[in-house]
Amino acid sequence: MRIAVLKERAAGETRVSATPETVKKFKALGAEVAVEAGAGETASIADADFAAAGAEVTADAASGADIVLGVQGPDPALLGGVKPGAWIVAGLDPFGQRTRVDAYAAAGLEALAMEFMPRITRAQSMDILSSQSNLAGYKAVIEAANAYGRAFPMMMTAAGTISAAKCFVMGVGVAGLQAIATARRLGAQVSATDVRSATKEQILSLGAKPIFVETVAGIEGEGAGGYATEMSEEYQKAQAELVSSHIAKQDIVITTALIPGRAAPRLITDAQIASMKPGSVIFDLAVAQGGNVEGSKADELVVKHGVKIIGYANTPAKLPADASALFARNLYNFLSAFWDKEAGRPVLDEEIGNAIRLTQGGKVVNERLLG
Ligand code: NAI
Repeated sequence: MRIAVLKERAAGETRVSATPETVKKFKALGAEVAVEAGAGETASIADADFAAAGAEVTADAASGADIVLGVQGPDPALLGGVKPGAWIVAGLDPFGQRTRVDAYAAAGLEALAMEFMPRITRAQSMDILSSQSNLAGYKAVIEAANAYGRAFPMMMTAAGTISAAKCFVMGVGVAGLQAIATARRLGAQVSATDVRSATKEQILSLGAKPIFVETVAGIEGEGAGGYATEMSEEYQKAQAELVSSHIAKQDIVITTALIPGRAAPRLITDAQIASMKPGSVIFDLAVAQGGNVEGSKADELVVKHGVKIIGYANTPAKLPADASALFARNLYNFLSAFWDKEAGRPVLDEEIGNAIRLTQGGKVVNERLLG
């Protein structure tokens, strides 16, 4: 059983899919690990550290691999030397990178999309969306604070008092919860909203104020797997009105709203931006999925009506060391949970296997891609 760790090649990708810690753990399971030279460089992991953990550091890590690990899906052209039927285990962006998924199928590879991991208790430690969103929520607040021309906490000084920044978090999933906690730690006055009513309690428990549409029913029971589904027109209208009156009073807005497999919902219009005070900052964490904020552009600072709008195509890549450590553990937790000692390799069960397997036996097999 040979596990390959490739250097990420996507623009702006700084993470790596294994760390010396996970290399050691894979070796303890009896696997060999080959790491492409330079794979950890942008995440502050030297080749020597991988070697010291027992990895073979080589220019041609994919050669003879049974399993190829990645943060993003590797270019199929790099996989010529892998074993027939080898597994590709990574964040494969199945909807966005359909051509690449088809190429994995054509090459007879078994592509496993980690972002399709079901949201069940036993898979929590394997969930790359959670581990990366958590860091992204933190980073969004730090970047917004950095771009803000004022301080976050209230300060009473001899020269006078500075009032606390007002921070509004839209979308209270994993990233939003961490954004609330981070903004609170920095001393901001925090409020938050979501379409899932279950988040109200969570917002309160973090010491923030829930801002909710009460007149139209939200998603009481949530969509499949705890995710949001698209809202009715009536709800969207009520939400827009509520947000308009609230947002005009905010200094910082962090948007995190996503709907799986669809473009991100538009939460902030140009007219709403115009109602905000000049110098306010909006961080759009959904910018790469179409954006929650009108006019936001990935990796560009956009200034509209004196309001700064920021958003990164890849926020976790701005924290490469921690993001890699958690991502690598997600992959290890996944493969080790299914490790069959006798077979000397992982053997998936139906529930998780069927959820994440995109290709097998030369075909695309995942329901979500066939439907
Ligand atoms: P996400 O990244 O898909 O969406 C972010 C947030 O945006 C969600 O809370 C969603 O309800 C909200 N949203 C969508 N449309 C909106 C709109 N129009 N206005 C305002 N907010 C909107 O969600 P994420 O972070 O992946 O988490 C979703 C749920 O899944 C959470 O309850 C989380 O605790 C749960 N979860 C469970 C796991 C497990 O059991 N293995 C693992 C990870 C998350």
